[in-house]
Amino acid sequence: VALNRLLSTLALAALLGGSAWLAQDAQANFADSAGFSGRGGATCIACHTLAPAPLTPPPAAAVIEGLPAAWDPGQAYALTLRVEGGPSALPAPAPQGGFDLSLDAGTLSFPPEMDGLLRNPNAQEVTYLPEGTMRREWQVVWTAPGLEQRPRPVQLWMAVVSADGNHVVALNASDGGERFDAVDAIAFALPASSAAEAAWRALPLLPPAAEAASTELRTIVAGRHADGNATHIAWRLDGGQWTVREAGAEWRVRLDGLEAGPHTFAVRSEGADRASPETTVRFDVPGFAIDLPGGKDTPAPPAPLLLLCLLALAVVALRSRR
Ligand code: HEC
Repeated sequence: VALNRLLSTLALAALLGGSAWLAQDAQANFADSAGFSGRGGATCIACHTLAPAPLTPPPAAAVIEGLPAAWDPGQAYALTLRVEGGPSALPAPAPQGGFDLSLDAGTLSFPPEMDGLLRNPNAQEVTYLPEGTMRREWQVVWTAPGLEQRPRPVQLWMAVVSADGNHVVALNASDGGERFDAVDAIAFALPASSAAEAAWRALPLLPPAAEAASTELRTIVAGRHADGNATHIAWRLDGGQWTVREAGAEWRVRLDGLEAGPHTFAVRSEGADRASPETTVRFDVPGFAIDLPGGKDTPAPPAPLLLLCLLALAVVALRSRR
């Protein structure tokens, strides 16, 4: 029996150590079990291990009411959290239960009537305060994410304890009594509604910024995406075919050998199945000397002297590189 005791104490110590490791800097005791929703792997059972038969408490169940089948962007959902089953509850001030809830998108808060009973360890987690353990039902509010990012399934984790009330005040030390409480944990993904996906697709990206700089020989259009979701540009010249290509935050399009005169360059940002309105850049390509003898309006061939100069410059540049 003594050996058995020693072994179970060792096992508990190992579990305590292990759970602390799993949940990183989360520390749990009666007063504070943040970090044990299951999001980091560990749930309440890390410490509230179940007592062996015949002392095993009846099973508990974590219940969430008020969640939609699929979430809509920016919508606030009033949720009722409950722990059902487990040992029978003792009247306050004996603790009756607790929970830790996390979601990986949107924000969690709670209504004013829960002030002093609950707290937010961070914007995506709600857990109990000691005053909040004298019940088995709590109210929280989940505000779904907006359309800053493409709608995706939101992951949810909730771990609960159905307490037998043998710890009136938080001692922050284990006497083994927490093993007569029952536990449960649930985790699932909540899909985005088809309306959320449609709203995402309908929402245009921000249009890109672009400027053109032209010489007789070449035009460079330099641009920037204004929308963080943009991954591609689609562009066309003078109402021609669209060209689509991948483009980072800053990009350039080089246009060689354009005819002298006015041109129109249209470009839009694209990404994640969405497009921006077009940005239009109008520019003029300067012409070569006109007013030629004979009244012919033909571009003059590049002067041999100019070509020689360019060649000389290139040679100098190459040499100074070495
Ligand atoms: C790191 C260990 C640890 C984890 C993890 C843990 N607890 Fe506890 N819990 C304790 C200890 C130890 C006690 C009893 C000692 C005390 O009063 O602090 C306790 C007591 C409680 C009590 C009072 C029980 C009673 O019968 O009086 C509640 C309620 C409670 N915990 C809720 C939770 C919930 C909910 C979670 C998970 C979200 C959780 N605990 C996770 C260690 C832990």
